Amino acid sequence: MKDVIFARRSIRRFKQTPVSQEQIKVLLDAALVAPSARNGQLLRYCAVSSPEKLKEVFRNTAWGGYVHPKRIPLSEVSSPMLFIVVSAENNGAAISHHTYADAGAAIENMLLTAVELGLGGCWIGSFDREILEKSISQPEGQTALYIVAFGVPDESPVLERIGKDGDPKYYLDDTDVLHVPKYTVESVTRFL
Ligand SMILES: Cc1cc2nc3c(=O)[nH]c(=O)nc-3n(C[C@H](O)[C@H](O)[C@H](O)COP(=O)(O)O)c2cc1C
Repeated sequence: MKDVIFARRSIRRFKQTPVSQEQIKVLLDAALVAPSARNGQLLRYCAVSSPEKLKEVFRNTAWGGYVHPKRIPLSEVSSPMLFIVVSAENNGAAISHHTYADAGAAIENMLLTAVELGLGGCWIGSFDREILEKSISQPEGQTALYIVAFGVPDESPVLERIGKDGDPKYYLDDTDVLHVPKYTVESVTRFL
């Protein structure tokens, strides 16, 4: 488990190999067993893998802000083969911060499970909700919170360590490898 946690990086370039229905089910099931406030399980999912819908959702995603435009996948060349849209069933009510926390737990479960399945993924928060919900024919009473993109990785980003004064922005080196700086334990933790 620890190896998987440390190996997981956000993937923004994908091989055009389909994600099987079996793999999609395993990812979704991993989401469903995640921690949930009061075990309320208000999250709902839409798995998008048909070529036409993939293109539609892909058009509505934004990628790699710090290295823009170099990690925007090219449609049908390096774009994701699966999107899972995570929604809240809130029936028009305000969405509680607990529901966002539930979504985070569910998404991390999927991203870690993806690593074990030989897949990679990227959590996408930048999208137009209205357009997305139209694309996926969102059922009444549900609100899209996040999109998660998946596929077979076609890049191998590397983890780096920095102190609290280091720059956490991810960057590309001369060989087009993405470096992802993360703080060290000592630099951001107080031990009492
Ligand atoms: C709430 C949230 C929203 C994110 N939205 C996007 C996004 O819209 N586009 C993108 O390329 N990456 C997005 N990311 C991925 C982050 O950029 C990524 O997690 C961060 O750079 C650290 O890299 P790592 O996942 O490899 O550790 C998002 C991550 C989180 C947690």
